[in-house]
Amino acid sequence: MSGSDLLRLGVLGSGHGSNLAAIGRDIDQGLLSARIAAVLSDQPGARILELGRTIGARTECIVPGLAGGRLDPATEEKFVAILREEKVELVVLAGFMRIIGSTLLAAFPRRIINVHPSLLPKHRGARAAAQALAAGDQVTGCTVHYVDQGVDTGEIIAQQKVEVRPDDTAETLQARIQFAEHALLPSVIATFARR
Ligand code: GRF
Repeated sequence: MSGSDLLRLGVLGSGHGSNLAAIGRDIDQGLLSARIAAVLSDQPGARILELGRTIGARTECIVPGLAGGRLDPATEEKFVAILREEKVELVVLAGFMRIIGSTLLAAFPRRIINVHPSLLPKHRGARAAAQALAAGDQVTGCTVHYVDQGVDTGEIIAQQKVEVRPDDTAETLQARIQFAEHALLPSVIATFARR
């Protein structure tokens, strides 16, 4: 497949980057007709940036003006400029710990997706695996959804269930949920690549 047929991805993350690695794995295995064009972060030391460099993507860190919470419009404009320069067609939030605002949303309408470690609408926000354990859930899972201005509130695209085991800790459960994410997220991206 020629480069121009490949769906150009921009991946935004603040952390470890295991979902980025899963996307890269599916591309390498020929399961996903995409190219990781840009990897962007708000955290200078994030491992996802290192991984992005290894993959050969344009890799940039922009530290937002405001600490935590929502991205400020000026920072969003910088993100948009880079994503446009790299001709990104689908923006993937993979562990990006900021709330997206109207500047980024307007630049990529229905082209920003997020992966979240629960069966939304249950357990929005941080520490979703711990929330599932605290609620006594016997089944949890992961969700890929469109991003809107809320926190994990956008339209659901796909979900995968994960069993909660009696001896689970938040860490063991999160690890199994992530294993499921690593199959679900690339499979959803593949549906955009085929459009
Ligand atoms: C994932 O569990 C995702 O659901 C959540 O943040 C985590 C990111 O993990 N939003 P990684 O950086 O892809 O390893």
